[in-house]
Amino acid sequence: MRWNRKHLLDTHVMDREDLDYILDAAESMEPYSGIFERVKQPLKICDGMVLATAFFEPSTRTKKSFQAAMLRLGGTYIDMDDEAKSSMAKGESSMDTLRMLSNYSDILAVRHRQLRSVPAFASALNKPVINGGDGANSHPTQAIADLYTMKREKGAIDGLHIAMVGDLRYGRTAHSLADALGNYSDVHVVGICPPGLSMPREFISGISYEEKQIKMMHLDDVLAGTCPDVVYATRVLVERLGQDANAFSYLYTITPETMQRLPEHTILMHPLPRPEKGIYTARGIAKPATWDIDTAVDGDPRAVYHKQAAYGVPTRMAEIVVMLGMQDKLGY
Ligand code: NCD
Repeated sequence: MRWNRKHLLDTHVMDREDLDYILDAAESMEPYSGIFERVKQPLKICDGMVLATAFFEPSTRTKKSFQAAMLRLGGTYIDMDDEAKSSMAKGESSMDTLRMLSNYSDILAVRHRQLRSVPAFASALNKPVINGGDGANSHPTQAIADLYTMKREKGAIDGLHIAMVGDLRYGRTAHSLADALGNYSDVHVVGICPPGLSMPREFISGISYEEKQIKMMHLDDVLAGTCPDVVYATRVLVERLGQDANAFSYLYTITPETMQRLPEHTILMHPLPRPEKGIYTARGIAKPATWDIDTAVDGDPRAVYHKQAAYGVPTRMAEIVVMLGMQDKLGY
């Protein structure tokens, strides 16, 4: 494969050939990822290699799946401590922390709250950096896990009709997914979002896209009307919206009734987490209500969001192997 970039920072720079290669590599990794079944023969591709995970924003799936991916490849990982327990508590900068971790590892997975910060950090580091999310900008490895989910669950990505629901303005997973979908043929995306939370234009220039701004009571009608192959639900990004999130707190919940109105062939995805919704106050959620996706939907065979989170392991295994330039060890 002709992947010749040092870092994996954005879907913008990835073409169809890059994506096909990573998705195929991920498929070959899946039996070694342990996601659904015990691994029979562990891999040793990254024996002796160290991944550093440096997440300056909360994470469960992305960080843990990177760590699991490196362990499944036969390597190991070091993890940056919480700010309170590390030298950041003494005022050390993110850049200095990353410089140090870069010297202690072979590859880094970095998440940071500041918009477009990860590419800026990467340019000053001597090891490959994978962007695990840079503020409200992008989340390329989630897009790869999302594409993999579509391929595995729908058979192909070309030709899919996708409804993206929720906070399309601040949802970095929706941004990177829309951007990456520009590499596929006949993909049509309908964005369904509250007024003011539209998808930024830069992420949809390469796809056929239309947007419907709706109020809660219309969600089921609009979704059923789009007859999508994939519903991609997202969270309202409270941490970026602040008190404004109140305006959207009860919006866009997918319930068993929503599912009833969707075709049999529609799959339901969500990058997760799906938080408890309610009225947000400075002290947290004052009145817990419901979730982006009602837990009553979990048993529906079309609900694939937990599988989608699991697919983060084989896809990140593939990304680590490619970024370390060890593709020749893939053996296919
Ligand atoms: C997302 C993220 O952090 O951007 N989660 C994830 O990585 N799977 C989505 C979110 O926080 O809403």
